[in-house]
Amino acid sequence: MATTTSTALYTDLSSYYDLMCADINYQAQAECIRRLHQLFGNKGTRHLDLACGTGPHVRHFIDKGFQSSGLDINQPMLDLAKLRCPEAEFVLQNMCEFKVDQPLDLITCFLYSIHYSDGFANLTRCIESAHAALKDDGIFCFNAVEKNLINNDSFVRHSVDHDNSRFTFSSGWFYQGEGEKQALKLSIEKADTLNTEIWHDEHPMVAVSFIELQALLEPYFEVHMFEHDYEKLIPWNGESGNAIVVCVKK
Ligand SMILES: C[S@@+](CC[C@H](N)C(=O)[O-])C[C@H]1O[C@@H](n2cnc3c(N)ncnc32)[C@H](O)[C@@H]1O
Repeated sequence: MATTTSTALYTDLSSYYDLMCADINYQAQAECIRRLHQLFGNKGTRHLDLACGTGPHVRHFIDKGFQSSGLDINQPMLDLAKLRCPEAEFVLQNMCEFKVDQPLDLITCFLYSIHYSDGFANLTRCIESAHAALKDDGIFCFNAVEKNLINNDSFVRHSVDHDNSRFTFSSGWFYQGEGEKQALKLSIEKADTLNTEIWHDEHPMVAVSFIELQALLEPYFEVHMFEHDYEKLIPWNGESGNAIVVCVKK
């Protein structure tokens, strides 16, 4: 059995990314944000997905009539996104310091990827970049996890059969209880009749409480928080540890 420790999920292991996300209902996520954009946004169609990965959300937004583009820091993810959405533009940039040529109506960031802005300074720069990239009535939507409600023992795990191998993916948050750093811990196991390979990935991320997050956003945006449910729109109850955040440019 070979075991490797790395942060290779978005580079060397990028071809396994869509398998890892096979259970995610991307359509429901995109539809929910489209509804929020109808409610809080300006009806415009210029959209950018931050940390777009292999482009599943960009695909849905284009299919609904948006002029969508994607931004990611890892070229292998963007190469897969371009295969999925040949008509879209994808740019290699860091979401903590991005710029756009023309102002946008909607900026999204899915799957907790905003936490890749690791540390408050980078998160603030990401928020400022999104604010600067939006039209006056544009909106910025993302999902987030509250650091004080992270359960270090909770892992999501699932298996998929692919290419004569069984892949088992596992992921969970780790927060040490203080400070502004948390980690996403992932493992990928690939087993066939002869071999088992295991990769362990650990990704540094920003840890925030929702009070801290609102305080970082409020100078730039009017902030609305919703329960983390892409099927129903329910205002955040003030207690849940996951939320959908809708930011209307001030
Ligand atoms: C969990 S994946 C999410 C991909 C996609 N949004 C989805 O929902 O499937 C996180 C993505 O964030 C990208 N990423 C990490 N740090 C980033 C940064 N500083 N700027 C832009 N993208 C980043 C990774 O390359 C990866 O594609």
